[in-house]
Amino acid sequence: MDTGLQHLHSYMTYLVLLGVLISFGAALAGWLGNKTFTDKDRKMGLLGLIPVHLQWVIGVILYFVSPLGMKNFSGEAMGDSVSRLYILEHPLTMIIAVVLITIGYSRAKRQIGTDNRGFKSIAIFYGIGLFLILLRIPWNAWPGN
Ligand code: HEM
Repeated sequence: MDTGLQHLHSYMTYLVLLGVLISFGAALAGWLGNKTFTDKDRKMGLLGLIPVHLQWVIGVILYFVSPLGMKNFSGEAMGDSVSRLYILEHPLTMIIAVVLITIGYSRAKRQIGTDNRGFKSIAIFYGIGLFLILLRIPWNAWPGN
């Protein structure tokens, strides 16, 4: 169960990065091209939102079952950079990224048929979210070999 979830979390990361990157690129193109944000463009935003939300749920469960998550919490572990990454920095940064991406999508949804502001919202919030995800992926362990 534990290793199955860990593998799922690991594979889902490809979908997260791909989805967010596609949503971000499409939004950037629409924003810079001054296009009107449509419902089709909202669906492009879902490409990033859906895997990010699935990954968030898997991550939270993993946090409670993995030996690297909550079970490893101690003052001593916080002094070790890899342990601290899994206990604190990775979960916290990813949750902030998920919240930002969700805000970007929700704001964009309200701009359908107006102007290019929906694109701008997705481009900025997904862009920052992507940056945060890349910043705190455990690169020591992923993609592995
Ligand atoms: C967009 C969100 C997220 C991404 C892209 C992501 C990505 C990753 C990656 C690439 C790994 C290393 C997997 C490996 O060893 O191959 C990992 C491990 C881990 N993540 Fe996440 N994660 C996300 C969200 C979260 C959240 C929200 C939590 C907890 C609240 C979390 C908890 C963990 C834990 C505990 C591990 C260590 C698992 C183990 O090796 O036993 N993750 N994550």
